[in-house]
Amino acid sequence: MTLKILVTAGDGIGPEVTSEAVAVLREVAEIGGHKFEFDARRIGGVAIVQDGTPLPADTLEAALASDAVLLGAVGGNEFNSLPPDKRPEAGLLQIRAALGGFANLRPAFAFKELTVNSPLRAEVVDGADILFVRELLGGLYFGRPREWNRAGGEAWNTMRYTRGEVERVARVAFELARKRRKKVTSVDKANVLEVSQLWRAAVNEVAAEFPDVTVEHQYVDAMAMHLMNQPRNYDVVVTENLFGDILSDEAAVITGSLGMLPSATIGGKVNLYEPVHGSAPDIAGRGLANPLGAILTGALILRHSGGLEAEAAAVESAVRRVLEQGFRTPDLARANPQGFTVLSTKEMGAKVRQTVKEQLASRV
Ligand code: NAD
Ligand code: IPM
Ligand code: MN
Repeated sequence: MTLKILVTAGDGIGPEVTSEAVAVLREVAEIGGHKFEFDARRIGGVAIVQDGTPLPADTLEAALASDAVLLGAVGGNEFNSLPPDKRPEAGLLQIRAALGGFANLRPAFAFKELTVNSPLRAEVVDGADILFVRELLGGLYFGRPREWNRAGGEAWNTMRYTRGEVERVARVAFELARKRRKKVTSVDKANVLEVSQLWRAAVNEVAAEFPDVTVEHQYVDAMAMHLMNQPRNYDVVVTENLFGDILSDEAAVITGSLGMLPSATIGGKVNLYEPVHGSAPDIAGRGLANPLGAILTGALILRHSGGLEAEAAAVESAVRRVLEQGFRTPDLARANPQGFTVLSTKEMGAKVRQTVKEQLASRV
């Protein structure tokens, strides 16, 4: 299997965590005799500083010519006063739009070993396994008109969806639910917003094509609460762009840390892979970042772009094994630090790599 992977590491902890993910992927390639070609390009704040734009043309060109893009994170405090279209985050939104993936899969899986790290009780989170399907190319992020009219003291954004945009992401959610526990929860604000009423109608229409999958609807405010009260109740959760952004960070509480969450964006020309977390300026450059979300994102590359299910599962089980052995990055050691071995970003990456090697070697 040959895969051309473009790495856009970005800012803050982005480079720290993606280099560990790449190292794991290299290990998988070596053991399995696969040819993974890596190329690296700038995006985000680092590109603003060096190229004058958050998404340089050569980065976009290389992304479109690759089989998969692995993105670290973008953003930094020094850019906070820039308008949205000039910020590092604009580069991320531009590459998402150009690659065309509309279904952002954000699995939130509660590793048993990390339940102690969640502020929620172990009996609440244990066994939680949710797949968020976040619509990624519509809603408030891309709707027009949008403007801050400074003189008028007024600003507006537009939450807009077409029926087709909702149907295509709903279809992805139902297809995925079919392979899981056959339940889709659609999240909207249909008690207030017309756009959510269209969302709900379109989801119901798609649901009719999947009689074997149960569908339920929740308002986003109630969902934010249910997610904490009974996370085990949910299988696939499909929702619009901003609600999905917020709910997936909330789901980090179930998994024990935002640093655990991976994502894959499918449905476009080239799949885009990113951990859910951001550039974490508060811990950047100190070896404190948890690389497991990025490494699990690498597993999603193996699964969704490489068709390498066994290898993807091996990476996921290596992560589990390393946690079972008591190894933790600082974000995972807030509870019971004495019982754990706390590792740096690089040390954690090396542990996973070593374990993947052992796991895959024992299968040959
Ligand atoms: P953040 O996700 O960067 O950090 C939130 C908190 O979680 C911080 O306390 C951070 O230290 C912690 N954290 C995040 N990832 C971690 C990891 N891997 N290991 C350990 N701890 C981790 O969110 P923020 O602070 O609100 O945003 C910082 C910047 O990142 C902003 O510029 C924002 O726009 C950007 N951002 C980018 C992406 C992306 O590129 N995909 C995603 C989210 C936020
Ligand atoms: C995410 C981030 C991005 C988003 C930002 C940085 C544009 O929060 O990937 O979750 O809102 O989509
Ligand atoms: Mn987010």
